[in-house]
Amino acid sequence: MSAGQRQGEHAASPTHVAIIMDGNGRWAQMRGLPRQEGHRRGLESLRRAVKNAGELGIEILTLYSFSTENWRRPHAEVSFLMGLLKHFVEKDLAELNASGVRVRIIGGRDDLAPELRGLVEHAETVTRDNTKMTLVVAFNYGSRDEIVRAARRLAADAAAGRIDAAAIDETAFVARLDTHDLPDPELVIRTSGETRISNFLLWQAAYAEFVFTPVLWPDFDRAALEEALAEYARRERRFGGLSEPANRKAGAA
Ligand code: FPP
Repeated sequence: MSAGQRQGEHAASPTHVAIIMDGNGRWAQMRGLPRQEGHRRGLESLRRAVKNAGELGIEILTLYSFSTENWRRPHAEVSFLMGLLKHFVEKDLAELNASGVRVRIIGGRDDLAPELRGLVEHAETVTRDNTKMTLVVAFNYGSRDEIVRAARRLAADAAAGRIDAAAIDETAFVARLDTHDLPDPELVIRTSGETRISNFLLWQAAYAEFVFTPVLWPDFDRAALEEALAEYARRERRFGGLSEPANRKAGAA
């Protein structure tokens, strides 16, 4: 638990917001358009979300852009999504950098084409000292995969004598997750009316608030983001403890 997450404390606005951007396909289908058009509009929505989040004071925005399960989609759609990430980095990197956005990619890199991998690593290097906002793109990301990779690193470190197995604790584990340099998200938003976590930030979202909105991702605008933030501000976060009046009562008893 970080300093900002003590029992009973309640910050009105989250530092780190993570979004499961769902509904591109349905958005297109409803208009008789190909799914790819939904993803294209999804990328426009992503750009808008980064801008709005920055303006609303969100310091870290994590976007679930391609999951480890998305490889099961038709080859053409997978290729299109790979191409969209490439297009995004090539076209937007200069502007993101000029706006002070630090770009981080989480997810397995070994399965990415060398060119794409090089491109995202370049984006991370170029922007690493930016401080205005952090954009985390979860690409080829799945929490179970991330946790297994972290466990593999721990096992390798233990086998090499770099860590004593008995000394493995949450801190040692967290240090080996893809998100090792990021605080946990306080708010996770999922669009399109689905109410699942879909293998997203399972470890990191242990104490997050969840907001589910029926809005399809291409339609997710500033008003929808502000509504999710307002919903978050109404929630009471207890981290397994008691609410403040109940705490006082327990203390008095
Ligand atoms: C879910 O919609 C969305 C995705 C699987 C991909 C998200 C991609 C974007 C928002 C575009 C930007 C992409 C990159 C790579 C920067 P869905 O296709 O599952 O929608 P459906 O459930 O309505 O079919």
